[in-house]
Amino acid sequence: MLIDTFGRVATDLRVSLTDRCNLRCTYCMPEEGLQWLAKPDLLTDDEIVRLIRIAVTDLGVEEVRFTGGEPLLRPGLVGIVERVAALENRPRMSLTTNGIGLERTATALRAAGLDRVNVSLDTLRPDVFRALTRRKRHEDVLRGLEAARAAGLTPVKVNSVLMPGFNDDEAPDLLAWAIAHDYELRFIEQMPLDAQHGWKREGMITAGDILASLRTRFTLTPEGQEERGSAPAERWTVDGGPHRVGVIASVTRPFCRACDRTRLTADGQVRTCLFATEETDLRSALRSDAPDAEIARIWKQAMWGKKAGSGLDDPSFLQPARPMSAIGG
Ligand code: 5AD
Ligand code: SF4
Repeated sequence: MLIDTFGRVATDLRVSLTDRCNLRCTYCMPEEGLQWLAKPDLLTDDEIVRLIRIAVTDLGVEEVRFTGGEPLLRPGLVGIVERVAALENRPRMSLTTNGIGLERTATALRAAGLDRVNVSLDTLRPDVFRALTRRKRHEDVLRGLEAARAAGLTPVKVNSVLMPGFNDDEAPDLLAWAIAHDYELRFIEQMPLDAQHGWKREGMITAGDILASLRTRFTLTPEGQEERGSAPAERWTVDGGPHRVGVIASVTRPFCRACDRTRLTADGQVRTCLFATEETDLRSALRSDAPDAEIARIWKQAMWGKKAGSGLDDPSFLQPARPMSAIGG
């Protein structure tokens, strides 16, 4: 098992498949993009499948989430999903995507064995989408969402980040829209993981702000703590149910004590936390023909060193060297 000194057990593996993206969300990347990882540094499809196999057979991982950058940009994605689905201890599999290209791939992904998707969409207004993401792709995302639902990649979850001056007034509209389309909406507090280091605590839209805004139009009833488990989202039923809304308050209401995550970057580094400042290299072991047991040992040792929390609430907090797009969301 992947256990740490605080007794937490990691059963949920996030795998970043690429650091590249076709959007430029202002809270994530600068307009010009970033220096992308070089091809030889990226894990190959075979290496990724091998690490996931070790994670599910030797380390107790039960759930795999593919992320990026934008994971749909990885040419081998469908093949990777298919091969993971064929593993003996098949994990549940989901994908966090910006939705661009999902229209074309949703059916193939479902057929390959993907269970669910989380699609990022911050606004219902095409002009605001363009300002936030610096790309004219709003329609593509909406079509991707429809395709995901039609393909049975359900429940389709939608992630929204609210940014002051862009979409901070849109929470109730987003929720009404999500309910009408049967998507499960979750708001994510903006985190200090942008490449430009532009995050400021003052002025960020907090969970408290989001809930107050939603309550101008909806009655929200908190869900029980037992139902939450290790999920980062706190959830509320909307107007008596059955629809729900979630808020992931990483900054103002951290949930580190229940964290069950372990992360793998596209270049084969284990991260114990989004906010970790250290990484553990698995790629070198893979490429020097280490046996499965040795790779499992290195991974376990890395997780044993997991810190108690993100450190976000500490005044001495230092943003990790790599941005979210290179870590995997
Ligand atoms: N803060 C909060 N959420 C972010 N995301 C990307 N960068 C940030 C950030 N700095 C979101 C994306 C996506 C998910 C993977 O994380 O919008 O929904
Ligand atoms: Fe791309 Fe996601 Fe970053 Fe937006 S937040 S630029 S969709 S990686």
